[in-house]
Amino acid sequence: MSGDEAGWPRFPDVSGAFTEEVTGARPVWQVREDDDPATILADHGISGDWLKAVGFRGKARRAALVPNADGSLAGAVLGTGDGQAGDPCGPSELLIGLLPKTLPDGDYRLATADGEAAENAAIAWGLGSYRFRRYRGNGEDYGPRLVLPEDTNKARIKAIVEGIWFGRNLINTPASDMGPDDLEAAARMLAERHGAWLKVTTGDDLLAQNLPMIHAVGRAAAQAPRLIDLTWQPQATTQLKTVTLVGKGICFDTGGLDIKPPNAMLLMKKDMGGAASALALAHMIMALELPIALRVLVPAAENSVAGNAFRPGDVLTSRLGKTVEVGNTDAEGRLVLADALALGDETGPDLMISLATLTGAARVALGPDLPAFFTDDDDFAAAVARRGLTVGDPVWRLPLWRGYNAKLDSEVADMNNVSDGPFAGAITAALFLKRFVTKTRRYAHVDLYGWRAAARPLGPKGGEPHAARLLLATLSDEVLS
Ligand code: BES
Ligand code: MN
Ligand code: ZN
Repeated sequence: MSGDEAGWPRFPDVSGAFTEEVTGARPVWQVREDDDPATILADHGISGDWLKAVGFRGKARRAALVPNADGSLAGAVLGTGDGQAGDPCGPSELLIGLLPKTLPDGDYRLATADGEAAENAAIAWGLGSYRFRRYRGNGEDYGPRLVLPEDTNKARIKAIVEGIWFGRNLINTPASDMGPDDLEAAARMLAERHGAWLKVTTGDDLLAQNLPMIHAVGRAAAQAPRLIDLTWQPQATTQLKTVTLVGKGICFDTGGLDIKPPNAMLLMKKDMGGAASALALAHMIMALELPIALRVLVPAAENSVAGNAFRPGDVLTSRLGKTVEVGNTDAEGRLVLADALALGDETGPDLMISLATLTGAARVALGPDLPAFFTDDDDFAAAVARRGLTVGDPVWRLPLWRGYNAKLDSEVADMNNVSDGPFAGAITAALFLKRFVTKTRRYAHVDLYGWRAAARPLGPKGGEPHAARLLLATLSDEVLS
């Protein structure tokens, strides 16, 4: 294990982005295009002439600093356009995430948001404050700080921002410092923090414990493949909903013997993005002590090339007993997930969700910002779709179209791990996974990018544990209502 750059790995400290001290904090006003900024500022004894002079009219994403009469800094205005953020799709207060990178250092407070809007705004501020500082700039100088707004759930704001920063750090850390050993260490750090129980099955023990496909995919790498199994439940045991998260933890995906070309391999440190999302969500659930009996399964492995690598044409026997012909070693994610899903299914949880950077096809269909979401449960799909827009972490549903099951037929085994043609790649991958879930009441699968392709209001370019905030909101609705 490496990675002792100034104390890494470590759990993120978000306290540099927030403050509780209201005195001296400068107001941030959100201004819509149909608002008159002059009247808003007049309420604070400031002339609106300045904003006219600098051409500020409330256009979305435009910000301006506002001076006092003596030339000192009074505060800042942020344009929110028509009241919809547009990007991310959701309420306009999410645009506050733009400010930490544009405002001068100092303390700020929300002047025009309260209740749920203030909570959204504070979360957005925290997400927009993130920087990946493992390899440069280790000082804790986070820049401007936001006063945590009154009458909001401050613990929730903190837990969500911490979870996302944690997940981003995992994804952004290159495979040289985020191999299966390191991913296990990160899960262990999280487990210790929350008093969760961690069991890890490593290397040849995977064969003894009947997790053969995780072993096959990861056995060629220098760090042994493993299954990380975290379980937790809150202290006060009442009615608990059983939820199992399964996150794809491919620490680097070369493609295996069906090796990827350079461009397709370049970003493959992020192929543990599903595991990062699952762990980020797990942090939020545990920090907030949701009434959930939680299990997180992370098959962690590197899809590598060596003489003992699994090969195209090999036939693997899965945990469930079904045999799988390897049509392509680059379709490794579904293999490791299949064994983990089969294990998770054995206890028949109320809900099981797989999260994975599973297919390029999902990205062709929906682009980098919109994960594909699969479930046969229409009510759950509707709840998830609605929440995606309220928290600015959307997904889009694709069908588990049974008619495409035949694409996975094999001539020598129970199934092939890839389809025989180029069409519907995200759907066939999801159908493959579904075959290993038989007892679980509700199953959902998220095919995510795990990466923000460009800087946005809610974060810089780089690792992004997609769907973690969305699923926290959806699960909270279910178990707290
Ligand atoms: N990790 C990749 C999928 C991926 C690629 C996600 C790029 C996000 C961006 C996965 O293991 C993979 O290689 N999938 C193949 C499947 C194919 C061989 C059926 C793909 O999508 O090309
Ligand atoms: Mn692959
Ligand atoms: Zn992969």
